[in-house]
Amino acid sequence: MKMQIKIKDCDYMKKMLIKGGYKLSGSIQISGAKNSAVALVPASILCDEEVRIDNIPDISDIDALKEILEYLGAKMQKDNNSLLINCQNIENKEIPENISRKLRASYYFMSALLGKYKKVEMYFPGGCNIGARPIDQTLKGYRALGATVIEEGNKYTIYADELKGSHLYLDMPSVGATVNTILAAVKAKGKTTIENAAKEPEIVNIATFLNNMGAKIKGAGTSKIVIEGVEKLHKASIETIPDRIEAGTYIIAGALIGDNLKIENIIPEHLEALINKLKEMGVNLKVESDCITISETDKLKPISIKTLGYPGFPTDLQQPFTVLLTQCQGESLVEETIYENRMGHVPHLNNLQANIIVNGRIAKIKGQSKLHGTNVIATDLRAGAAMVLAGLKADGETEINDVEHILRGYENIVEKLQNVGAKILIKEIE
Ligand code: EPU
Repeated sequence: MKMQIKIKDCDYMKKMLIKGGYKLSGSIQISGAKNSAVALVPASILCDEEVRIDNIPDISDIDALKEILEYLGAKMQKDNNSLLINCQNIENKEIPENISRKLRASYYFMSALLGKYKKVEMYFPGGCNIGARPIDQTLKGYRALGATVIEEGNKYTIYADELKGSHLYLDMPSVGATVNTILAAVKAKGKTTIENAAKEPEIVNIATFLNNMGAKIKGAGTSKIVIEGVEKLHKASIETIPDRIEAGTYIIAGALIGDNLKIENIIPEHLEALINKLKEMGVNLKVESDCITISETDKLKPISIKTLGYPGFPTDLQQPFTVLLTQCQGESLVEETIYENRMGHVPHLNNLQANIIVNGRIAKIKGQSKLHGTNVIATDLRAGAAMVLAGLKADGETEINDVEHILRGYENIVEKLQNVGAKILIKEIE
C-alpha cells in the first residue's frame, strides 16, 4: 500500500521554503556533533572546577541543556563556539518535566547528578517520536551500581548510600545506556565493566572528556568498557568531534544535486558505512583526510541498506539516504532495525512524487522518481533533514512545516545551504 497523508494545520512558528533544482557547489563546514555535545554538557556536572567544551554546535538542543544547567545554578560563559561551565555551586534539585521532556539527552543529567550526589529525582526524557525509546537499560545500570530506583508514573527517584562498581551486560548496545552508566560510574567505588556497550565515536569523545578530568575509563569505542572509579574530577577541556550525521546529510545533498560540493571538517572514518554505500551506488566522490567532495551522478544503481549500531549504517542517516534512493534506477530496500517507527518521512516523500511502499520496518523504494515540490511536514529531526534534501532536488517549491524539529540538530542549516547556491529560507508564521 502506498501511504498518503493529509497536511495538518501548522501549530509551529516557522516554516522553510525551498525552490529546488539549483546545483550546490562550494564548501560546507561541519559543526560539532549534536550527540556528543548533548552528553559533554551534562558531564560537566561531575567536575567541581571549570571545564571548557570547544566546537559546541549552535542548535536548540544545546539551548535546552543550558536551560537545565542554569536552573541548577551552574555558571556558564560563551566564548565564540566554546562553552565554559562551572558546576561547583550547583543545587541538586528536581528538573521540571516541561524541561526534561524537551530532549532525550536530559537524562544524562540524571546520571551525572546521581554520580555526583548519589541521589536524583527526574522525569522521563523527551526526544524525537520515532519509537517507544524505553530507558530500562539505563535503570539496569543504576541498579547494577547498587542504586534503588523508584518509578512513579513518569517520575524517577534514584538513590544509593554508595555507588559500587559492578559488572553490567547491556541487552542491546544502547548509546544512552552506555553514556549513562559511564556518567554514574566514574565516581563510584571500584571497577565497573560494561559489556555489549555501544561503540559510537560520540562515546569515545565523552570518555576522553571525563579522562581529561582525571576519570579512568578504558575501552570506549569497543564493546567492553572498564571504569575505575575516582574520588574527584579536575578542570579540563575537550573539543566536540565533527557531526558525522550533519556531514552525512550534506554528503547526500551533494550526491543528489552537487557540483563539486566540498564537505569540510569531517572525520571520514566515522562515515565509512555511508561512503561505502555511496560507492556501491556508483556515486562520484573524492575522500581526503578531512573532507569529501561530491557531485551528482547520472545513473545510480539501486541498493539495500540496513541500519545498525556503529560502525554499521547509522539509523540517523536512514531517512536522508532514502531521498537519494528515490533517484536510483530500480528498486532499493531500507531496513530500519534500531527504531520501530522511523518511517515518518515516507508519506511526505510520496507527496513529493516518490514511490515508496512501507511494510513495518522495511521500505521499498522504486526509482528513478522525478520529485515535485509541495507542502510537507518535518515529523522529526532526521525526517526534516530528508524533506530539505528532497526539496533541494524537487522541481518547483517545497514548503516544510514544523521546522523546529530540524533546528534542534542542524546548526545554521539555511545559511550553510544558501552559501553553496541553494534557494532556501525560513519564514516566521504569523
Ligand atoms: N533501547 C531500549 N532500552 C534502553 C535503551 C535503548 O530498548 O534502555 C532501544 C531503543 O528503544 C532503540 C534502541 O535501543 O530502539 C537504540 O537506542 P539507543 O539507546 O542506542 O539510542 P539513544 O541513546 O536514545 C542516541 C541518539 C539518537 C540515535 C541513537 C542510535 C542522542 C541524544 N541520541 O539515542 O539520535 O538515533 O543513539 O544511534 O545521542 C538523532 O540524532 O536524530 C537521534 C535520534
